[in-house]
Amino acid sequence: MRFFALVSGEHDELPYAEIEGAFEAESVPRNLLKPFTQVCRFEAPLEPVLRAFKRLAFSHFLCEEVCILGKDASTSEVISLVKKRFLKESVAFRVRRVRGSISPQEAVNLERKLNIEAKNAGLLVDLENPRNNIEVIASDGFLLVGRKICLSDRRRVFSRSGGVKPFFHPSSLKVELARVMLNLARVREGSIVLDPFSGTGTILIEANELRTIPLGLEIDPAMAYSSIRNYRWFGAFEVCQLLGDARHMPLRRVDAIVTDPPYGRRASTHGLESSRVYEGFIEESSRILRDEGWIVFLSPSKMPVEDFLASKGFKIMETYFIEVHTSLTRKLLVARNR
Ligand SMILES: C[S@@+](CC[C@H](N)C(=O)[O-])C[C@H]1O[C@@H](n2cnc3c(N)ncnc32)[C@H](O)[C@@H]1O
Repeated sequence: MRFFALVSGEHDELPYAEIEGAFEAESVPRNLLKPFTQVCRFEAPLEPVLRAFKRLAFSHFLCEEVCILGKDASTSEVISLVKKRFLKESVAFRVRRVRGSISPQEAVNLERKLNIEAKNAGLLVDLENPRNNIEVIASDGFLLVGRKICLSDRRRVFSRSGGVKPFFHPSSLKVELARVMLNLARVREGSIVLDPFSGTGTILIEANELRTIPLGLEIDPAMAYSSIRNYRWFGAFEVCQLLGDARHMPLRRVDAIVTDPPYGRRASTHGLESSRVYEGFIEESSRILRDEGWIVFLSPSKMPVEDFLASKGFKIMETYFIEVHTSLTRKLLVARNR
């Protein structure tokens, strides 16, 4: 089957990389097709795609592709192609615009016109409760038309964001980024996932949602005890929280490491230079991470973590830059143990 997904506009590359990570984690056989701005397209079998798509935080929804037309295509062209597929079932058209591809007014007019003309053309239009939501996405001078078949996990992930936690700290990671990092680490149900700088537990709560075995290490006792309040609040009873130093981990083997080490601004390095903390944590990670296991972490953009990783035998797979705010950019590293 051929699908497209509307992805979030908060980063140019990460939504596509997250899809790839989740697909690999769920072993989805796939053939990627030409993407559009904020639209990822691929051919794949339905059942594993649904499983992978429901893990995502940087995507909105998934559609079964009906057609792609130039943005000046007539409404009757769109309707006749939709009619071929959904003559006997109710439909409702919804138009969305990506990054100013068409104006807001054009989008409203197009949506209204499609729904009125579809009715006139003999389609069963039900704006309240349609059997088929027909999404029309205007992107890069094209109209991508598809039937919406599933939502990502984005809304549920956001429902656990900062403000609703019983224990919050300014160093807490954004919950949606925590989920993306877990997907980039290709974590699977039942795999042991370690966050050696667990803080308030954001990554581990998401790891628990993905049915992994989440393991936390934290040097600050007050932080470690308080994070347990968050685990209880979100029903993440499976999280195992340890107290300790990420440079000397009391562990033998884990399947994946996903973490947000301190960089000395809001999160304390407990008196150490942050590069020392990174060096020590990377060395320990190479010891305990299984062969071919994935490590995903954030670092200050100027710190040479690539050198530390290479010297410990890691292979860097992907690097992304994330603007936290205008004066702070962070680097997201995705690497594998050899
Ligand atoms: C950036 S915060 C982590 C935030 C976390 N991802 C969250 O969402 O709450 C870094 C954490 O690492 C802890 N930490 C600092 N040095 C450490 C070390 N050597 N070993 C383990 N934890 C450490 C800090 O106390 C802090 O809680």
